[in-house]
Amino acid sequence: MIKKFLDLGYQPLANKYLKSCKKLSIKKKELYRLTVGFDTKTKLVSLFNKIPDRIMFDSNYPYKSSMSKTMTDSFKKLSVEIKKRFNPKLFLEIGSNDGALIKNFNRNQVICVEPCSNLAKITKGKGYITYNNYWDLNLSNKIKNKFNTVDVIYSANTLTHINDLNQVFKSISNLLTQDGILIIEDPSFLECIKKLSYDQFYNEHIYIFSALSVKKLLHEFDLELFDIEKLDTHGGSLRYFIKRINNNKFKIKNTVSKQISTELKFGLANFLTYKKFGISVKKSKNDLIKIFKKIKNKNKKIIGYGATAKATTILNYCNIGDSIIDYFVDTTPDKINRFMPGTKIKIKKYNQKLLDDVNYIYLGAWNFKDEIFKKEKKFIKSGGKFITHVPFPKII
Ligand code: TYD
Repeated sequence: MIKKFLDLGYQPLANKYLKSCKKLSIKKKELYRLTVGFDTKTKLVSLFNKIPDRIMFDSNYPYKSSMSKTMTDSFKKLSVEIKKRFNPKLFLEIGSNDGALIKNFNRNQVICVEPCSNLAKITKGKGYITYNNYWDLNLSNKIKNKFNTVDVIYSANTLTHINDLNQVFKSISNLLTQDGILIIEDPSFLECIKKLSYDQFYNEHIYIFSALSVKKLLHEFDLELFDIEKLDTHGGSLRYFIKRINNNKFKIKNTVSKQISTELKFGLANFLTYKKFGISVKKSKNDLIKIFKKIKNKNKKIIGYGATAKATTILNYCNIGDSIIDYFVDTTPDKINRFMPGTKIKIKKYNQKLLDDVNYIYLGAWNFKDEIFKKEKKFIKSGGKFITHVPFPKII
């Protein structure tokens, strides 16, 4: 049974940065209710209201992995690890985005799968075999007919965006060599609870995985975890290494039992933990609003840094508009001169000079805090302050 523990109100589609700031309507399905539940049987956390893939991932998808050094560095490190540990003849990435990972592999070694045509064009243009398709059994069969099987399948921050997880894993198992490896990485629900980062919830994040839920899910497909790595990316992620149950080539490392027991100790198997999280989120919202109001009462200028999908959840849930945040800055070309979804807050092209008369910066991309703080030493030195809601609303 799926039990509700969080209601983040009406929200717009998080990665749809519009050119105008028109009022969005519930009737026209431009706004939808964002509620989150916990399945007491499968231990899986999911959204109740699932938006069809085709509406979310189209030919104008703005997010590009290569925009952040943290992500490109993480992918580079991973490519070295994959080659060293698994030495794949053929490597497939589901959700290859703009090629931030696959650029570290030889062209004849990689298959890219990317449903957003603007992104698929980029890897295709660089000479990589690219399927501009959604990941499903049809595509898996198509690739199988051409390439037979694949040694390593990898997917970061993508499988949790796909509604039909049964089809996802069936399609993977269909294509994986007998001793093939699946590696997936996604935000960790344990980190989400610890950091009170409820902005991990938006329409695209249909599921938030825990090791506990992944373990149960894999079992249905005769797959199992054999290693887990902790990552700092996306506010704390887990990288799951997965094999077929009957593949004895790889030993199950104790990282798996360690993570599961940490999650159990934290209470991730019990609904009460989720319910408490829901209550803490309400308090976090009120505290954040108080901070913003206090600053605005002193007539200080606040801007946002990093026009993230996550920030859309915060702005709409906390009802923070352009009377509080003057504008956001971001480096992503497809977000510039557009509006933060559901608000009248404009996104400006990042330029350090834009920070000169700013007193406070709200960290939309709090998950890149270190990278941003390094870059904005001048702002900090001149007395500028940051506002964040992670792990609780505060001024830094
Ligand atoms: P991210 O946190 O990965 O995204 P989301 O919540 O949408 O999944 O996105 C980070 C955003 O912040 C992205 O739009 C790029 C932007 N950004 C900057 O503009 N400058 C920076 O220095 C960094 C690190 C990120």
